[in-house]
Amino acid sequence: MSDTISVTVKVWRQNGPDSPGGFETHPQQISIDASFLEMLDLLNEQLNDRGEEPIVFESDCREGICGTCGVMINGRAHGPQKATATCQLHMREFADGDEIVIEPFRAAGFPVIRDLAVDRSPLDHIIESGGYISVGSGAAPDANLTPVPKDAAEQAFDAAACIGCGACVAACPNSAAQLFTSAKVGHMALLPQGQPERWSRTEAMVDVMETYFGSCTNHGECHEACPKEISLDFIAYLNRDYVRAKVKNRALSGQR
Ligand code: SF4
Ligand code: FES
Repeated sequence: MSDTISVTVKVWRQNGPDSPGGFETHPQQISIDASFLEMLDLLNEQLNDRGEEPIVFESDCREGICGTCGVMINGRAHGPQKATATCQLHMREFADGDEIVIEPFRAAGFPVIRDLAVDRSPLDHIIESGGYISVGSGAAPDANLTPVPKDAAEQAFDAAACIGCGACVAACPNSAAQLFTSAKVGHMALLPQGQPERWSRTEAMVDVMETYFGSCTNHGECHEACPKEISLDFIAYLNRDYVRAKVKNRALSGQR
């Protein structure tokens, strides 16, 4: 079997958020050992050599841990390989003669900045509204001072695997961000350290989420697209915690 394939890359080009976009077609010969982003790097070198504008796309770690990368590949967020971020995808997933259609993540909450890069700052706004734990400064506490039950530690660790890529939003027919938000709420609500701010955090993060994103109607596409396979159970957990947060926060405000 040849270790080089010929593919036709159809890539979305768009000068800015308000510009009309369109597809450009580029035939490529590429080693099956190249990563998908290396294929785009090589295409950009060719464009540079011809004096044309390179394709704008995002990446940083290229190890599946930072959440910076992310494009639609043949209509699927992060492409055809399950549980795999765009930067971890390799050209061996494609066959000789394939057409590869590359678009930016499509969601009203993620406006296109240029070409394949979108503005995912609404996810940052959700985190800013409560995705942290306040701690008094001072000497670092002993690591084992607060016992954490094993089940809680394991579930919190699963939730904390979310890399904030936004593929869940792009895959959802409603552009909902429930899977992301539930992972971020869940990994703190499960731990003892997350309890003091639990109810204010949950309500604030859901309220900000709802200002940017659509509503979850249980399609489950988010889980299918998620490179970290975040469980839909966290959405159920978030929904329960949000109802409890509403009640508890109203009761607390009535006491003031
Ligand atoms: S839940 Fe999954 S798809 Fe959504 S932001 Fe986190 S890692 Fe990405
Ligand atoms: S570039 Fe960091 S997860 Fe893909």
